[in-house]
Amino acid sequence: MLYELTQVTKRYTQRRKQVDALAGIDLTIDEGEFLAIQGSTGSGKTTLLQMLGAMDRPSGGHLLFEGRDLAKLGEGDLSELRSHSFGFIFQAFNLIPTLTAQENVETALVPWHVGAAERRGKAEEALAGVGLADRAKHIPSELSGGEQQRVAIARALVRSPRVIFADEPTGNLDERTRDDIIGLLEQLWRERGQTLIVVTHDTWVASRASRRIWLDRGRIEEQEAPDDDSDLDARFLAQAGVAAGVK
Ligand SMILES: Nc1ncnc2c1ncn2[C@@H]1O[C@H](COP(=O)(O)OP(=O)(O)O)[C@@H](O)[C@H]1O
Ligand SMILES: [Mg+2]
Repeated sequence: MLYELTQVTKRYTQRRKQVDALAGIDLTIDEGEFLAIQGSTGSGKTTLLQMLGAMDRPSGGHLLFEGRDLAKLGEGDLSELRSHSFGFIFQAFNLIPTLTAQENVETALVPWHVGAAERRGKAEEALAGVGLADRAKHIPSELSGGEQQRVAIARALVRSPRVIFADEPTGNLDERTRDDIIGLLEQLWRERGQTLIVVTHDTWVASRASRRIWLDRGRIEEQEAPDDDSDLDARFLAQAGVAAGVK
């Protein structure tokens, strides 16, 4: 079990108004799942992703990641988790406009204090992994939306995180590019065995996931049972094939 959430709540207070963005979430997530979180605007999807990704702490309940309660960890431990265990992909790509694709990917390795040559090598490899080796020297404004999102995916993957979080990763893309990007995420998920958690209100995107949950006003309104093993078996066989050098 990678995650175990019991009665997780998040209350935001703005001026005198209180919003219960999460109103008691019970959820478990296994290592290697591809989980889609669906729900209408304001239902708490981004908030849930931020809690899972240690970007913020819950107001109540328990949120265990590998047995450690993220609600109780200090800022140093949370920051360590963010930089070593988690990768994030956003709707608006969030690339630095003045840096090249290569440099944008390298920024993810800055907290690691690795040497420049290693940083360059890892970033090149990550860009090649998303099919952008030949665009490495371009700045974001010289790239299409789909290419910018590929750079952002490379930036998330370059640290080989345990969990990849994507918040509406195809929300700014046209339908064909959406299919490319989800196809790429799905391929990377199959090849690498990382856990992938995607927030989306796009039913087609969610249909690619191995499991879906629906949020409504901060609660899980509906959830699919964890997948039977058929899909995971296919992945493990594929990975075993890769490991054994079988084409
Ligand atoms: N930082 C914040 N301060 C105050 N209210 C917030 C904050 N972030 C989100 N909210 C509120 O919490 C609720 C859930 O928001 P969010 O998680 O962003 O939903 P979704 O991603 O499903 O659209 C909304 O009512 C939103 O206005
Ligand atoms: Mg959101």
